[in-house]
Amino acid sequence: MASKPGYVEIYPEIYQIPGIQRSAHAYLVKGRRKNVLIDTGLPTTTDHLLNCLSDLGLHQRDIHMVLLTHEHIDHAGGAPIFNGSALLAAHRLAANKLALKDEFALMNRVFDQGVDDFEIDVLLQEGASINLGNYELEILHTPGHCSGGISIYEPNHRLLFSGDTIMANGIIGGVLGSGNASDYIHTLKCLSTLKIAHLYPGHGRLSTTAEADILVGIERLQNLLDDSKQLFDAIKHTSHGFDHITRSLRDLNCK
Ligand SMILES: [Fe+2]
Repeated sequence: MASKPGYVEIYPEIYQIPGIQRSAHAYLVKGRRKNVLIDTGLPTTTDHLLNCLSDLGLHQRDIHMVLLTHEHIDHAGGAPIFNGSALLAAHRLAANKLALKDEFALMNRVFDQGVDDFEIDVLLQEGASINLGNYELEILHTPGHCSGGISIYEPNHRLLFSGDTIMANGIIGGVLGSGNASDYIHTLKCLSTLKIAHLYPGHGRLSTTAEADILVGIERLQNLLDDSKQLFDAIKHTSHGFDHITRSLRDLNCK
């Protein structure tokens, strides 16, 4: 019996390679001139990624550019296999954490994996645009889940590749490492001004109700902010107050 291909064509010349083993989804955008891969999954799922590309008739050298939505290992961990053959691109704040192997930010310990050395070739920033002939990929800086998060918007077809920023049903990736709730809310309010026909998130199912998803995400984050205030008020009235928290964040030997 023929094995089922691991990829799904979700739009003409755009393919989702669904994540396995808690890995993020990767997306392949086949351009007229160049092929772009959005995210790479975990270090341990690169065989799956390469097998799917092979099923699509592509070798890893046929990927010309890899866009990393952010630095978390379930999205960026497979990037080293493209080191030297494709341009690897990430927001400068994500690139910095990857270069410094900042384990607090990269989530390596959560997945109990490390990432081989690799270099980010292109530092992305808000407003950058990649013209593939059939698709135009606009880079949006979307901090909140982490500081160096980007989303990729295709304005002509109204597609949004959102990484962990917003997912179907308004699920948010959470405020992790370098992230914060207020940037996250600002990001989602900016995304809410876009016309989005198809939401292609880093995890979970695809969505055609991005506007509603984003509003739910904003509500969840506002609730998180409110809960945080209550939590901080409760901590303030404990015997140690905030000392035991700030002590772990400050280098107290630094004078
Ligand atoms: Fe993430």
